[in-house]
Amino acid sequence: MENDKMGDISNECSDAFDNILESRRSIRFFKDEIPPKEYVEDIIRAGLFAPYAAQAVDENEYFRKFIVISKNSEKMKEVAEIAKNKVKIMSEQLNAQMEENPYLKEKAKSFSKRLELFAEKGVLGIGTAPYYIVVAEKKGVPPVEQQSLAHCLQNMWLKAASLDLGFHLVSATAQMEENKDFCEILGINPGEWGLNGCAVGYPEEIPPETSRPAVSEVTMWID
Ligand SMILES: Cc1cc2nc3c(=O)[nH]c(=O)nc-3n(C[C@H](O)[C@H](O)[C@H](O)COP(=O)(O)O)c2cc1C
Repeated sequence: MENDKMGDISNECSDAFDNILESRRSIRFFKDEIPPKEYVEDIIRAGLFAPYAAQAVDENEYFRKFIVISKNSEKMKEVAEIAKNKVKIMSEQLNAQMEENPYLKEKAKSFSKRLELFAEKGVLGIGTAPYYIVVAEKKGVPPVEQQSLAHCLQNMWLKAASLDLGFHLVSATAQMEENKDFCEILGINPGEWGLNGCAVGYPEEIPPETSRPAVSEVTMWID
């Protein structure tokens, strides 16, 4: 598989955007240096420009919140412990289900290993990066808060890439939306908000480009 060269038709803005798209990576290891808070605010601002499900939310009452937890804060230790315990339970539940279900046993091998690692060492991104940012979106009808959060996080990710900051998703965050202790730290009622999260900091190293197929390999035109 080979990446296409980005388009022949170009202008300065579009070229700059393509550079950001191509430079975005999951960065999972960070320097100790803490990026300025202004950068984090710029990233959050990018998240605010993301689309949202207008039919699902009450636009009179703002429906997104961003909670930035610094690596060196007291609360980070508590949050990391809550996440580790949650992942331990998930890991045990998944392993039990895998014993009952041969299809799952085969399919979930790699996810199960990941959960076991997190259960032992803690969740990557929570306490391992200068900032762990939780994004909360009020649940609505239809229940599309996770899709909406994904748009928001993607905007944040691209902004982080444009600032040469490292970023990775912390999906385990979504599993803690009912957790009383976690939600108390976030200042929200458990179960009322969908959650997702990310880790941000200066990259320790830039991983190589991940492979993407050529457009022609994955596209069918119906003219
Ligand atoms: C729905 C979804 C959940 C993900 N969750 C995590 C996560 O919890 N932790 C993580 O490090 N990466 C997570 N990723 C990132 C992918 O592993 C990553 O995007 C993929 O390996 C391609 O690498 P790249 O982001 O560097 O292009 C997630 C991606 C998606 C789309």
